[in-house]
Amino acid sequence: MDTPNKKDTQRGNKTVSAKSSAAADLRELFIDELKDIIYAERALVKALPKMANNASDPNLKAAIGEHVAVTEGQVDRLVQVFELLGESDRGKKCDAMEGLIMEGENILEETKPGPVRDAAIISASQKIEHYEIASYGTLVAFASLLGEDEVSELLKITLDEEKYADVKLTEAAYGSINLEALEEGEE
Ligand SMILES: [Fe+2]
Ligand SMILES: [Fe+2]
Repeated sequence: MDTPNKKDTQRGNKTVSAKSSAAADLRELFIDELKDIIYAERALVKALPKMANNASDPNLKAAIGEHVAVTEGQVDRLVQVFELLGESDRGKKCDAMEGLIMEGENILEETKPGPVRDAAIISASQKIEHYEIASYGTLVAFASLLGEDEVSELLKITLDEEKYADVKLTEAAYGSINLEALEEGEE
């Protein structure tokens, strides 16, 4: 019988039935998540230059600018992944990345150019990088589980690039920006 057990009902848990289009197996889930990340990367190619243009610190500007080029390469790598898997590279709207990008745009409206805005740009960018690190970490594991070793290798390259970008942002933050942001607040 389908009735949820008493404990689940008490806790307000609900059993969710899948949509007919839902992933039936791990490979389908893997493809679905790849479609999510290619959408996210394409959205970032458009959104990151605005972040770079609005940064004041030259190191931060350069780090984000450099990551735009890297992100373009990541889109190409994903297209290659879809080719290897014999699937279309059409993306699927990634709500999480849309939200993270929107947050980044909001902080630009709420801050004036300078160290505080730079600190906010670093914060928004690191949230984006951490989302990507989590996504690619999962994708590398799924590819390995599915025996797609070539795909796994390609995704691992991107995972390392995202980790590197995160380190660069941290360096920019601890280099001078956060300290200057603090001083600006005390003026
Ligand atoms: Fe990326
Ligand atoms: Fe990234």
